[in-house]
Amino acid sequence: MDASAWAERIVAVKRLGRSEGWGQGNRQREARFFPGMGWKSLCILVAFILSLAGVSSAEKGKPWGEGYFPDVLLTTHEGKEVRFYQDLLKDKVVAINFMFTSCENVCPAETARLSQVVSLLGDRVGEDIHFYSISIDPEVDTPEALARYRERFDVGEGWTFLTASRETSDLIQRKLGLLVEQLDDPNDHNASLVLGSEANSRWIRRSPYDNPKSLAHLLAESLQNGRKAPRANRNLASYADAPSRENWDKGERIYRSRCAACHTIGEGNRVGPDLAGVTQRREREWLVRWIVEPDLMISEKDPEALELLKAWDDIRMPNFGLNQAEAEAILGFIERSAPSPSTGPERSLSMRDPVGH
Ligand code: HEC
Repeated sequence: MDASAWAERIVAVKRLGRSEGWGQGNRQREARFFPGMGWKSLCILVAFILSLAGVSSAEKGKPWGEGYFPDVLLTTHEGKEVRFYQDLLKDKVVAINFMFTSCENVCPAETARLSQVVSLLGDRVGEDIHFYSISIDPEVDTPEALARYRERFDVGEGWTFLTASRETSDLIQRKLGLLVEQLDDPNDHNASLVLGSEANSRWIRRSPYDNPKSLAHLLAESLQNGRKAPRANRNLASYADAPSRENWDKGERIYRSRCAACHTIGEGNRVGPDLAGVTQRREREWLVRWIVEPDLMISEKDPEALELLKAWDDIRMPNFGLNQAEAEAILGFIERSAPSPSTGPERSLSMRDPVGH
């Protein structure tokens, strides 16, 4: 990636990290996910998305239904061929994002964030809510590579990973208002999440860093307008009980929005190691630097960083563009919340309860 694009990405992520409001103002924040776009085209795009989200009636002849979405062919992580409109969208409430398995920064964090939303939705995922992650790197992301990636993130039923030709994935991204034209580096692809209901012709773009509870609410309720009410005995998991963010200090806020998707403090290993007692296990300076620039430490071949990376199947911890003070604040929160500075539990890849702390 060229240095200025990289700097822009870091600033974008950093701004996202700093923004306090959740749920509101997302569209403005998401605008920063369009590196290299001028303000004029950005405004046109935002206006388009707003109009997409605003016009929401099936009565208007479903402007974003059949005829708008192409019925192009994709292949699932199980090697099954499916049609974009008929098989994936028609009559469904869906969440769609674009990713690629070798992506080092945004995608693992995004996947981990989405798995929090999936957990909140419980067994409605795969039933009346469907998640699709579409690769933008068809040469590398074969169905087998996608299946392996799903396994590493412990993705369950109802969340399908898909690959298609580059033309097809470009076309779908364009139709969803996500295509970044002339993308030199796939890391700069639009990392937004599109939530939609084909039946209601409603489509909304959100940042994957939004509060998982608010994303789950959109999928489970707002987008289900006019459809059958959820079964009373459905396992709605706990999105109504997710912790309130009142009284969170800076460290806790960043931890919950950026780190909790992959880590717990004293509840076992998830995508990354349990962080209970980590401040006893490692040097403070090392930890602060790791939280600020893990990618740089790996490229500089820091021996402890390389050892960790190896132990964690090469899943890379993302660089969120945090600064030292923010890293310190997070470490302070980790220290305060650790149940007991112990040796740490055995690795278990369960990600079933990522918001339960
Ligand atoms: C996408 C998943 C993911 C996210 C999000 C994430 N990490 Fe990590 N983290 C990992 C993985 C995986 C490792 C193990 C090293 C590796 O493979 O890069 C790790 C390692 C660590 C370690 C070293 C643990 C040890 O036992 O030495 C610390 C500390 C840490 N992460 C803190 C954080 C903090 C703080 C945040 C939020 C700002 C965060 N991580 C966000 C995946 C993640």
